[in-house]
Amino acid sequence: MMQSVAAQRAAQLRAEIERHSHQYYVLDAPLIPDAEYDRLFRELQALEAEHPELSSLDTPTLRVGGKILDGFAPVRHAVAMLSIRTETDISDGGALAFDGRVKRELEQPGAEIEYICELKFDGLAINLRYEKGLLVQAATRGDGESGEDVTQNIRTIRQIPLRLKDCAAPVLEVRGEAYMARRDFERYNEKQRELGLPTLVNPRNGAAGSIRQLDPALAARRPLSFFAYGLGEVQGWALPATHSGILDALAAFGVPVCAERAVVRGAAGLVAFHQRVAEKRDALPFDIDGVVYKVNSLALQAQLGFITREPRWAVAHKFPAEEQLTVVRDIDIQVGRTGKLTPVAKLEPVFVGGTTVSNATLHNEDETRRKDVRIGDTVIVRRAGDVIPEVVGVVLDPSIPQGERKEEYRFDLFKRLGGKCPVCGSHIVREAGEADWRCAGGLFCPAQRKQALLHFASRRAMDVEGLGDKLVEQLVDGGLIRTLPDLYRLDLATLAGLERMAEKSAQNILNALEKSKQATLNRFLFALGIRHVGETTAKDLACYFGKLDAIMQATPEQLLNVPDVGPVVAQSLVDFFAEPHNREVVQQLRALGVSWQEHEGTSGQVLPLTGKTFVLTGTLPSMSRDEARAKLEALGAKVAGSVSKKTDFVVAGAEAGSKLSRAQELGVPVLDEAGLVDLLSELL
Ligand code: IVH
Repeated sequence: MMQSVAAQRAAQLRAEIERHSHQYYVLDAPLIPDAEYDRLFRELQALEAEHPELSSLDTPTLRVGGKILDGFAPVRHAVAMLSIRTETDISDGGALAFDGRVKRELEQPGAEIEYICELKFDGLAINLRYEKGLLVQAATRGDGESGEDVTQNIRTIRQIPLRLKDCAAPVLEVRGEAYMARRDFERYNEKQRELGLPTLVNPRNGAAGSIRQLDPALAARRPLSFFAYGLGEVQGWALPATHSGILDALAAFGVPVCAERAVVRGAAGLVAFHQRVAEKRDALPFDIDGVVYKVNSLALQAQLGFITREPRWAVAHKFPAEEQLTVVRDIDIQVGRTGKLTPVAKLEPVFVGGTTVSNATLHNEDETRRKDVRIGDTVIVRRAGDVIPEVVGVVLDPSIPQGERKEEYRFDLFKRLGGKCPVCGSHIVREAGEADWRCAGGLFCPAQRKQALLHFASRRAMDVEGLGDKLVEQLVDGGLIRTLPDLYRLDLATLAGLERMAEKSAQNILNALEKSKQATLNRFLFALGIRHVGETTAKDLACYFGKLDAIMQATPEQLLNVPDVGPVVAQSLVDFFAEPHNREVVQQLRALGVSWQEHEGTSGQVLPLTGKTFVLTGTLPSMSRDEARAKLEALGAKVAGSVSKKTDFVVAGAEAGSKLSRAQELGVPVLDEAGLVDLLSELL
């Protein structure tokens, strides 16, 4: 490139990068996906490498992290917080290149090096300083030399021990990543959407915002988690010989360390880990953007040393990005099971998070208006885990003045639909205090009918294997099914006559339908698709009343006696069963042979474990976790997913992880399988 052109481009890139880092680090409101930022950053790095004369002291490539916010005291790191190099090749080649470099630097071309593989957590780097075992300070990375004192906010992360177990070293700095679990992110956004308030862009942004939130009470509203991956300053503690030894020791001190780590040998070991994690990525409870390989021996690490600010003994090997830019071709409106109208962006197909995405949810009208997404806009799309892809925000073309985006073209759901359901033409309503518009057509609306059937047949409801999208579509569109009971009136000839159905598959569906008739009260109740009655509420109701008729006849006051049932749920149940059509559906389903065991219920009577909360973790030697859960629930216990002060017992099996350490930290009694069996037999 010509010198003057290069200089111009460099200046342009610096300005862009500065603008985006300010948006990201200071305002917590990124305008472009990380991958796009990285691309700009790498382009500038490459340009400066090619034209060293262009480098200047104010170039963003010379600074590691963000800017220090006003309001937090600065902390000078005793040992600089470095970053790691990212392999640019995201195929297996990345692992091979790293292994090759390590062996070359060590002058051991034929050796099989031992590595530790970890996940690359997508959050915010934090340094936790423990003195004599006590947490005295927590700091962000900042520019690597100094960060911000965020001790107060870090204390709200309940997984982080305030005191180390069995470690009184004068100084032990633990480094790791504070992150927001996907569930916590989804829950927070769900609540914000209901309130019509801004949502978080992604979990990492949520973590950054939460930690740099000046009010610790607000920070605590956005729950974070933590995983340790290394050390800072250490005094008075004899280091193990390996990095894996360090992580094991930290775990023993009660610091959360991710169980998803492995000591492997050679490039083949790195590749195998990368592949294994890539397959699991969607199922993980948190976002990762890749894996990290580290030479395991500390002696070899020392021999390898650093180049500028990056260790030669570690590297990040990334996965495909979970956020990408694309263009909105159209905005469709989909009708859900309860008539909820969801705006969905039809996108120029884009490869994101490992698959090609062409639809992304915009959630609801307010959200779409707030983000101001319009047809033709360039948007950031996010797809992470098994969550539905969503439009995170719009990237406005800086060359078009804001004024050009006329208010009258802002998304307006009612206007767009002309006030009518796009599927059945019924009128649409949005009740006061509700975030969603709904089609008022009920089961008259084919879209609602399809969704209701799919829900009824789903695994956690009646579990009718093989009754999927395509089949339901044909059944409803062909007028073969109008109500739920019609499902059980299907015959072989009708089913076999459908597209893509042979006699055998038709028979399989009939068998599955027959099998589904042996239900349980809670599954049946859940399957009916009553608004606000999820799986847990259905269980609570079934357990409390024992009989369907008792639930159908219950008054709001009686329903409110059920633990965890509030006024909204109670009203929704009363409304549902007041509707003659719904009573008719129930009666017909029973007449067609759908049945379950009824019992006396617990209303009035208290089961031996009522009010007690259990958490199950790890693998029990002979019982599956589902069996243990069923036994406990039958005695009235609640089985929760995470350990808190309110947990009465933790039942731990082999390879129990952070839940067990949390229980020990809080002094919650821990049972093994034998202990659980003893307890159950005492009570039965
Ligand atoms: S090791 C000297 N391990 O990735 C090596 N970093 O540039 C220090 N990160 O912001 C880092 N997961 O916060 C390491 N398992 C892991 C990591 C990890 C995420 C972050 C780290 C830093 C960036 C590295």
